[in-house]
Amino acid sequence: MTADNPMTTSTHNSVPFVDLAWQHDQIQAQIQAALAAVLSRGDFVLGQAVQELETAFAEASGAQCGVGVACGTDAIALGLSACGIGEGDEVLLPVNTFVATLIGILRSGAIPVFVDCDQDTALLDLEAAEAAVTLKTRAVIPVHLYGQMVSPSGLKALAERHDLLIFEDAAQAHLAEREGMRAGSVGTAAAFSFYPSKNLGAIGDGGMLLTQEALVAETTRSLRNYGAVRKYFHTEPQGTNSRLDTLQAAVLGLKLPFLLDWNHARNQIAQHYDDRLSALREFGILPIRNDSGTGHVYHLYVIRVTTDCPIDRTALQLALQEKQIQSGIHYPVPCHLQPAFQFLGYQPGAFPVAEGLSQEILSLPMYPGMTLEQADRVIDVIVQAVNQDTATTESLTALSA
Ligand SMILES: Cc1ncc(COP(=O)(O)O)c(C=O)c1O
Repeated sequence: MTADNPMTTSTHNSVPFVDLAWQHDQIQAQIQAALAAVLSRGDFVLGQAVQELETAFAEASGAQCGVGVACGTDAIALGLSACGIGEGDEVLLPVNTFVATLIGILRSGAIPVFVDCDQDTALLDLEAAEAAVTLKTRAVIPVHLYGQMVSPSGLKALAERHDLLIFEDAAQAHLAEREGMRAGSVGTAAAFSFYPSKNLGAIGDGGMLLTQEALVAETTRSLRNYGAVRKYFHTEPQGTNSRLDTLQAAVLGLKLPFLLDWNHARNQIAQHYDDRLSALREFGILPIRNDSGTGHVYHLYVIRVTTDCPIDRTALQLALQEKQIQSGIHYPVPCHLQPAFQFLGYQPGAFPVAEGLSQEILSLPMYPGMTLEQADRVIDVIVQAVNQDTATTESLTALSA
């Protein structure tokens, strides 16, 4: 089974892609009490829990202000507008991101300019980004893909050279760290998603804009609330209804104190995967490289099934599926090749690294609460599948044990 619906639970020897039951079991009673408290207060829209979460999450991330919105996509669209990015402005983004980054830019009215990624880390290629800068370029959106931040120093150097605003897409990188900085504290602003399977996930949709600038926060607050600065007084024509739900904020506020531990658990599983997979490098299985050590929060654990591998990615995914191990592909089609965005005028072949990676990447099960035994089960199946003959299987199993 692939990971179309990630909110599944494990049975017998199966390994789900994501299992949220473990984290919810720990705080079930508190969740019920928090939901009951919102019910009895009745502050369902922009209630107390929203403000509390905005303050707590901004502080934990090293940012000045937080503004809760309905989802991560809105955090990008409204946040860019609040930063003054719009019509005629070019915004750089990696082409191998989730389509929401692109949708957010288009909604702000700005012109998206795709950039290729680094082959080993799958992160925005900063040299390619520099080459794509024109006189109209106003901003760069580094996507902290899979839970790993784009280098803050590299980003800042690029931004300073070309007077660009940095707007982080941190939807997959809650409390990720690199070079002593947390996701959300590097740029002028950053967008987070609280989609249930994210590292910090709600029990529905949710998102937040973090920013260092009070004015950007204030404008986003207005944009999320029909463009009103106070009730029935509207100053922003692009205003909409996009508020983080109070019930969701209450649940997120309960989970936040656990987040560092949960991220650490993900990192431990990733290290175990890395250790065991090292024996498969010569067989063309390469994990996406971690350049940020324990700062990588592994929203996803992704390997490359390269052309050096004796079996192809589809066959490997099928082998996993036969053993009830879910996997996923993030993402199978780079943004410039999506049918909806052909009007942007990019051709196949324009981004060879991202296009190549899209054919190789495979995301393995990853969630806090996953056991090392479960990770071993995943690797055992990969080891067996990679091998065509029994003799090699034995030597590989021994090597990677
Ligand atoms: C990189 C990236 N950006 C933006 C988003 C959009 O977030 P949401 O689904 O909350 O709108 C996501 C969510 O999946 C994402 O992974």
